[in-house]
Amino acid sequence: MKRHLIFQSSLQAETPCIPEETLMRISDTEFNLLRKLVYERFGINLTEAKKSLVVSRLQKTIRSLGMRSFKQYYDYLMADTTGSALDTLINRISTNHTFFYRESNHFEFFRSRVLPEMSSRIRTMGCRDLRIWCAGCSSGEEAYTLIIEMKEFFGSEYDLWDAGLLATDISTNALQKAVTGEYTEDNVAHLPAYARRYFKKISDDRYRVSDELKREITFRRFNLMTPVFPFRKPFHVIFCRNVMIYFDQMTRSELIRKFYQCLVPEGYLFIGHSESLGREQTLFQYIMPAVYRKKQKE
Ligand SMILES: C[S@@+](CC[C@H](N)C(=O)[O-])C[C@H]1O[C@@H](n2cnc3c(N)ncnc32)[C@H](O)[C@@H]1O
Repeated sequence: MKRHLIFQSSLQAETPCIPEETLMRISDTEFNLLRKLVYERFGINLTEAKKSLVVSRLQKTIRSLGMRSFKQYYDYLMADTTGSALDTLINRISTNHTFFYRESNHFEFFRSRVLPEMSSRIRTMGCRDLRIWCAGCSSGEEAYTLIIEMKEFFGSEYDLWDAGLLATDISTNALQKAVTGEYTEDNVAHLPAYARRYFKKISDDRYRVSDELKREITFRRFNLMTPVFPFRKPFHVIFCRNVMIYFDQMTRSELIRKFYQCLVPEGYLFIGHSESLGREQTLFQYIMPAVYRKKQKE
């Protein structure tokens, strides 16, 4: 998979908080235009409750472009043919919160049950090709956690496997951080001792992921709204956690259908603990909270 898969500080003390009145105003019409655009392009459902968040996340960008209104900004987005204006928009709008070993029982299950089961199945088929996809990987913590667990599970056999990880996200800023693989002391503070070995201290407060891990992950920009997923081979496991919470039911159902299509039979799908596939879906079997397995066709 590795190769073949697919592809101001000095002012701070004295500077008062920015007064509320300096927040830019957004009209209902402007908000609805942006909301529709973000929904159509990225699937993110900006509810009415997100209005002030949209203003606070975008006003700096708008001002730095010398613009005075959200309508001006919207017209600029629509006129841009390079895609870079939309990239900036999604970098600002997406929520990239994540951390190492988030919802850690998933990683225990992955290592103690999914990896043994999948690897023995693959072996009996006479190959050693294990494909994992971390969809909505944000700044990389989830993907690095997965690869650590894979390395720990396979041990010295790891190199005999064509095992690796595709990690994708829509945010180029988050991906840039993931590729750089540098994290703060706080970020790595709660790593289990065995995982710490994969990090090197590079300054007082910074740690860098070892090259040994980095080379096993292919980080790519990928929009989950892509109508037909382009993967040549199906995945054995997909992690898409805490991403669908930003989507509405229709978008989620469509995404679940696409995940189904690009999983091997009985392949695993991990979603976030606050998410669910819904009772009515018939494509996946419930295994444990936020873990599902692709059903065999009846
Ligand atoms: C809250 S983070 C989740 C990170 C990680 N999976 C975790 O559980 O800790 C959600 C991620 O989904 C990404 N995302 C949102 N919409 C997306 C889309 N249409 N395509 C791909 N990624 C998307 C965001 O950029 C963000 O990094």
